[in-house]
Amino acid sequence: MKTAFFSTKRYDEQSFEKVNADYHHELTFFEPRLMLETATLASGFPAVCTFINDDLSAGTLRAIAAAGTQLIALRCAGFNNVDLNIAQELGIKVVRVPAYSPYAVAEHAVGLIMALNRKLYRAYNRVRDDNFSLEGLIGFDLYGKTVGVVGTGKIGQCFAQIMKGFGCKILAYDIRPNPVCLEIGVNYVELPELLKQSDIISLHCPLLPSTHHLINADSLQHFKPGAMLINTSRGGLINTKAVIHAIKSGQVGYFGIDVYEHEDSLFFEDLSDTVIQDDTFQLLQSFSNVVITAHQAFFTKEALQNIAETTLSNISDIDAGRECSNEIKAT
Ligand code: NAI
Repeated sequence: MKTAFFSTKRYDEQSFEKVNADYHHELTFFEPRLMLETATLASGFPAVCTFINDDLSAGTLRAIAAAGTQLIALRCAGFNNVDLNIAQELGIKVVRVPAYSPYAVAEHAVGLIMALNRKLYRAYNRVRDDNFSLEGLIGFDLYGKTVGVVGTGKIGQCFAQIMKGFGCKILAYDIRPNPVCLEIGVNYVELPELLKQSDIISLHCPLLPSTHHLINADSLQHFKPGAMLINTSRGGLINTKAVIHAIKSGQVGYFGIDVYEHEDSLFFEDLSDTVIQDDTFQLLQSFSNVVITAHQAFFTKEALQNIAETTLSNISDIDAGRECSNEIKAT
């Protein structure tokens, strides 16, 4: 199927071209993000393949539908950037990659915990500077600590399993408890209770209208003073300004994020020659107990391979008029 890829980097092109040897779709790679202003690039392509920060709101959808697009193949799990109701109304099918490596994301969340707890980023810079002092580097044992997992789907489950291995007590909050988590001894509680008891809180639920700013000024009040907050899910789960306030007051003692609510104007680009205009982000960066990575939790060789495999297989299914189990519909 003739497919226009948006928001592409060299690594996307490489992994998709390699896997496409088995699928024989006609792939064209565009660097720009898909949005209303770039929608004309999709002209003549029955399928577009997009990523997390492409704008698939009503305006863009109408423009690509008018230009002949009938399929959106998301090469990611989250679909919060797609107006599914409008897509359905326009007859555009939407498919996604529900799982490509839950391990990649869960392991990155653990990486953020380790970096923050043992201050690896500070230690690395110190040693490079021949400063071998340990002042300010003290951490805590993970063993015996309480970890709160918000959302125990594929990634939350992997994360809970890893943290169990550290000897942590695991609490979880989910609207649908996961039997595997129950089996390994995860204790499901209501969200305020989880926030109250946890030394480390890690977010793994999707961004939905109901979860937008799940962590806000009110919920932050439930936190154990000095708790660690980790977000590898979606930036919009957190009201960043409220967290900054909580970091300044000491209510949040560590903050590790791979996602940021206004990341679409920052992440995936080299902006090192520009002046960043986002004051909230810059303020966040100035704290010594904050570690930010730029949406790289998914970024492993295995995940890229799986993303390409599933996306191209999804496109083949739709192209052939087959039922696609990865199709998402408006509810
Ligand atoms: P999943 O669909 O397997 O699990 C999500 C879980 O969240 C489900 O158990 C669901 O019941 C639960 N949930 C839904 N609404 C909830 C609510 N209101 N409160 C608490 N729990 C709720 O999804 P998966 O694969 O585990 O991914 C989780 C999220 O991770 C995705 O939505 C995506 O936003 C993010 N993600 C981030 C990546 C990164 O590179 N940083 C890569 C892949 C996914």
